[in-house]
Amino acid sequence: MTNENAENRKSVLITGASSGIGEALAIHYAALGYDVGIAARRMDRLKKLQEKLLSDNAGKNIRVLVQGLDVNALTDVAANMTSICEALGRVDIIYVNAGINRIQRVGTGKVHQDFAIVDTNISGAIATVDAAASYFKNQGHGQIVGISSLASFAAVPAQATYCASKAAFSMYLKGARLDLMSDNIDVTIITPGFIATEIADNIHKYPFVVSSEQGAKEIAHIVDKRKKEGIVPGYPWKYIKPFFGLIPTSLWKKLA
Ligand SMILES: NC(=O)c1ccc[n+]([C@@H]2O[C@H](COP(=O)([O-])OP(=O)(O)OC[C@H]3O[C@@H](n4cnc5c(N)ncnc54)[C@H](OP(=O)(O)O)[C@@H]3O)[C@@H](O)[C@H]2O)c1
Repeated sequence: MTNENAENRKSVLITGASSGIGEALAIHYAALGYDVGIAARRMDRLKKLQEKLLSDNAGKNIRVLVQGLDVNALTDVAANMTSICEALGRVDIIYVNAGINRIQRVGTGKVHQDFAIVDTNISGAIATVDAAASYFKNQGHGQIVGISSLASFAAVPAQATYCASKAAFSMYLKGARLDLMSDNIDVTIITPGFIATEIADNIHKYPFVVSSEQGAKEIAHIVDKRKKEGIVPGYPWKYIKPFFGLIPTSLWKKLA
């Protein structure tokens, strides 16, 4: 599907677009001819990505807009989100993707790192969804995509807080879906397995890792179909998911 007619041009806003899945999604949508809004804290990375998207897609006449966004600055999230949404004008899809992880076992005394995960992955994500929903309500339509995790389904060693944060975010998104249904706003929950990004140094040790490009392609496909939920990569996780909670702790210990 291309999107080269400027009048009907669709647009997408992606938080956490300065690396990994968010960056790959921005590249994917720009190649389809979408106007793209990219938000994160590292402005240098966003500006480089903006230049790349514009030069790789010269001739498509797309717009690529950059927004500084720290989702931990809770009182600023709505204003920053509204600012980039208004600059884009019509916004079709908002990816609530910004998130962090820390590989650490419970009882190491580094509880401040656990709180940082909670702040970003729950409070920051909720603030972002709320701002997205508010914009879409005024606009009359939209699709919110929350990037949760396979870790929302079952505990993984050395990631207790991360698993808890993603389980909470998924449940929040399910509640948001109920609240926003009558406002013509769809909510899609994506649960990635393992995608090669900067989120964890040891990501390549985990099973069935795919590239961020492959991950973005599969995510966008699920979103395009306006599905309520989707696992990425689909193969083999959609077949393993029913048994995910049964993976022996001894196997997880070898991985983490
Ligand atoms: N990779 C995987 O295997 C995997 C699996 C399951 C779920 N996920 C989820 O996928 C999402 C993207 O992660 P990734 O794998 O692409 O990792 P990544 O490469 O580390 O990207 C994380 C993104 O989140 C942004 N971010 C972090 N804290 C932020 C904050 N306070 N405010 C605004 N932006 C913030 C980062 O940008 P700045 O640092 O520039 O702000 C960066 O762009 C996360 O929600 C993650 O939990 C990833």
